[in-house]
Amino acid sequence: MQKIIVTGANGQVGQEIRDLSKNYPAYEFHFFDKKQLDIANLKSVRDTFKELHPYVIINCAAYTAVDKAESESGLAYAINAEGVGNLALVAYELQAKLVHISTDYVFDGTSSVAYKEDDPTSPINEYGRTKLEGENKCLSNNPEAIIIRTSWVYSSYGNNFVKTMIRLMKERPEIGVVSDQWGNPTYAADLAEAIFQVIDSGKWIPGIYNYSNDANISWHQFAERIAKEINSACIIKSLSTEQYPTPAKRPHYSVLNKEKIQKTYSIQIYPWQESLVKCVRKIYLD
Ligand SMILES: NC(=O)c1ccc[n+]([C@@H]2O[C@H](COP(=O)([O-])OP(=O)(O)OC[C@H]3O[C@@H](n4cnc5c(N)ncnc54)[C@H](OP(=O)(O)O)[C@@H]3O)[C@@H](O)[C@H]2O)c1
Repeated sequence: MQKIIVTGANGQVGQEIRDLSKNYPAYEFHFFDKKQLDIANLKSVRDTFKELHPYVIINCAAYTAVDKAESESGLAYAINAEGVGNLALVAYELQAKLVHISTDYVFDGTSSVAYKEDDPTSPINEYGRTKLEGENKCLSNNPEAIIIRTSWVYSSYGNNFVKTMIRLMKERPEIGVVSDQWGNPTYAADLAEAIFQVIDSGKWIPGIYNYSNDANISWHQFAERIAKEINSACIIKSLSTEQYPTPAKRPHYSVLNKEKIQKTYSIQIYPWQESLVKCVRKIYLD
């Protein structure tokens, strides 16, 4: 049976992949959380992969604390750049396929049209810089790898904007949300499905692909919709980026163009409102 290794298995995307793996009995799955496999440790990566000889590795492991990365750039680099380089190297040595996940934060956000995969990158924060270096190491160590860039990921698992908003909307009569940063949310369950469709398609076309839900919205619009879905009366005030300073700068615009993955792998891009409903239902059922 072909084996699939999932690293960073306790993260948002990792847990959605675990849920969906039940629909793919033709593969034997091996899930590793950070304690079981630290991707920054080349020896552990090599020992684990050599023992299992996976068909595919899905890397969901990452340092994702965008603001903290400003003061912990060394740690973020060790995971997001060197760790990814390790996975790519060993996957290549063993002729295993690698799916790695990257981010819209590789872009500076000065565009006004959706970013394509080959648009120039120019990250404006440490997290984005380490993720871009991870992409570079991934492709130089393993030109056969597939990288999927995604954005604004949320899920019923882990910590994310949707869960934070739901909590704040219950606690407070009024909240402020930034309305001058534009992008597209991604329900991690949809991303997990897209990853499986790529793996299961029978064709492997290396390179970078964008994937997110279909949207071109601000965080403020996203928050308003979350309030609507949970019938919250909380007032959502509009804030500018200047009114909501954070340690890490964020791109003002990071909408991703999804045509490449749609055409290459016939992947459906779900409307963001539908995916939000699915996630909110799951949060309330859990
Ligand atoms: N979240 C977003 O909004 C977003 C947006 C764009 C792209 N992405 C990308 O999407 C991917 C998945 O993100 P996510 O939202 O699922 O992130 P997540 O929930 O933070 O999950 C990442 C997982 O990686 C683990 N990890 C950290 N360091 C590790 C190491 N050295 N070795 C092994 N595992 C390690 C983390 O464990 P601990 O929690 O214990 O540290 C966590 O379980 C990442 O590549 C991320 O950069 C995310």
